[in-house]
Amino acid sequence: MGNHQPGKNGFPPGPMTVPFLGSVVDLGTGDEFLNKWVELSEEYGSVFSVKIEGRWVVFVTGWEAAREVLVKKGLDFADKPRYPSAEKHNPEYKGIFDAPCGDRWKNQRSFALTTLRSFGFGKVSIEGSITHEVEDLFNDLMSHQSKALDCRDLLAAHTANVLFALTFGLRYTDDDHVFQSLLKYSRVLMLDYSCSSTGTGAKKAAKGLQYYTNKQIQKHADSRSVGEEPRDFIDAYLAKIDEDPENFSYDDLSYVLTDLIGAGIESVSFTLLWSLLYMSLHLDVQDRVHQEIKQVGLL
Ligand code: HEM
Repeated sequence: MGNHQPGKNGFPPGPMTVPFLGSVVDLGTGDEFLNKWVELSEEYGSVFSVKIEGRWVVFVTGWEAAREVLVKKGLDFADKPRYPSAEKHNPEYKGIFDAPCGDRWKNQRSFALTTLRSFGFGKVSIEGSITHEVEDLFNDLMSHQSKALDCRDLLAAHTANVLFALTFGLRYTDDDHVFQSLLKYSRVLMLDYSCSSTGTGAKKAAKGLQYYTNKQIQKHADSRSVGEEPRDFIDAYLAKIDEDPENFSYDDLSYVLTDLIGAGIESVSFTLLWSLLYMSLHLDVQDRVHQEIKQVGLL
């Protein structure tokens, strides 16, 4: 057994470790991993540690602990670990997600936030695009009549189209094979990025997304009119590169877009999926939501 057992030397508790192998636990991948995470939190509490391939990883679960880490002591935890996935696909730690806490990260992050907002992110002006996706989602749901249905892919697809409208200025139909690949990559990236010990799946997914984002960047660079209103996020970023080439580059843009897709689709669609689950358990809330949707004329 290793000398540094979880629960000692300042580490939160967790499964036992053995030399060379790390923690005696099979974390699995994807959904298995999420279930294992829940199991471990039931056994060791909301904060626990696991040694994966020589690295200590501290897991934080539950509202209170997550709030303490992300909000109350946000600055203490602002930096990021060097994930194996990042080392493989982003060795210079470009973009937002992998970038260490510092000026480069701040520049990319604040530009992305401001620009997404200027295109309506979190504002009423994005309502048109969201309403369009919601109507399409209703039609998809209605076409299943009252048969049981796993909404996960549908929610991801419609969320992706809102994000793609802002970033790339386009939307896809569900049967488009490029769209389906992008959705698959974004899911793998979200689930395997920080969990996988090898980072192989995440690297492949990130490469797939980057191949696509590079093509979109090129298309935009070829078709944009310098000095004109930007059509979407890519145009705005290209204008920023002209203005400040020292801090913004094509390469950064490619990583930022990969981050937005990787972080923006599954997070929103899973939040919606949880809302559906809760509404199926709390019928009074479901009823209120239903009334509100009717009131605004969507039903
Ligand atoms: C309900 C929806 C969402 C939830 C619950 C959520 C949650 C989170 C959390 C917990 C983090 C911190 C992760 C970490 O540091 O390991 C994060 C980071 C991030 N999220 Fe989201 N997110 C959501 C929506 C979005 C959307 C729509 C986008 C993009 C348009 C996005 C882009 C990002 C990016 C780029 C980061 C990295 C930020 C940084 O490292 O500075 N997220 N998100």
